[in-house]
Amino acid sequence: MKRIAIFASGNGSNAENIIRYFQADSRGAEVAVVITNKADAPVIGRAERLGVEAIVLPGADIRNPDIMLPLLAGRRIDLIVLAGFLLMIPSFLIAAYPGGIVNIHPSLLPKYGGKGMYGRHVHEAVVAAGEKETGITVHYVSEKCDEGEPIFQASIEVVPTDTPADVEAKIHQLEKEHFPRIIEGLLS
Ligand code: GAR
Repeated sequence: MKRIAIFASGNGSNAENIIRYFQADSRGAEVAVVITNKADAPVIGRAERLGVEAIVLPGADIRNPDIMLPLLAGRRIDLIVLAGFLLMIPSFLIAAYPGGIVNIHPSLLPKYGGKGMYGRHVHEAVVAAGEKETGITVHYVSEKCDEGEPIFQASIEVVPTDTPADVEAKIHQLEKEHFPRIIEGLLS
């Protein structure tokens, strides 16, 4: 059984969807732990209700190899999945998990990536620019924000009447549809 650690900072709808996907059928993998840097993040309750351990760690602990490496090794983690995680991943983790850390970003990278581009901010920028399409990118995590090698993209149409909230809803649907399946493919 492959073991996944999800890192998430907020709502956690992707985290919940991924947990449910792997719990629903025997797919050779399971979410072993959810790690968050926010003590009040809804993702904690979502994980715990599904019987998955949730750990709150301040950013300083996440940046500390003496804390993070034993925590992940002790849980025999094979893959780290960032699902709405807003801190940079420290270099020691990238070195410890080569090709083993993936992120989902709610745009068609390289468009609308980089510092400050997360969640609703991305969709606001997409609507303000009058884009006719947007989408999601699953990519490997590298030292540079949103610049790791892409693994998968899917797109949706943006119509002129779409608000940022409309785009966000469509993007969440797309993430729900694809992200667990992509993770499964990476582990098999
Ligand atoms: C998701 O749309 C994810 O793509 C995005 O944050 C949202 C988290 O939603 N990630 C980023 O913007 C990363 N730069 P969730 O907490 O409900 O899964």
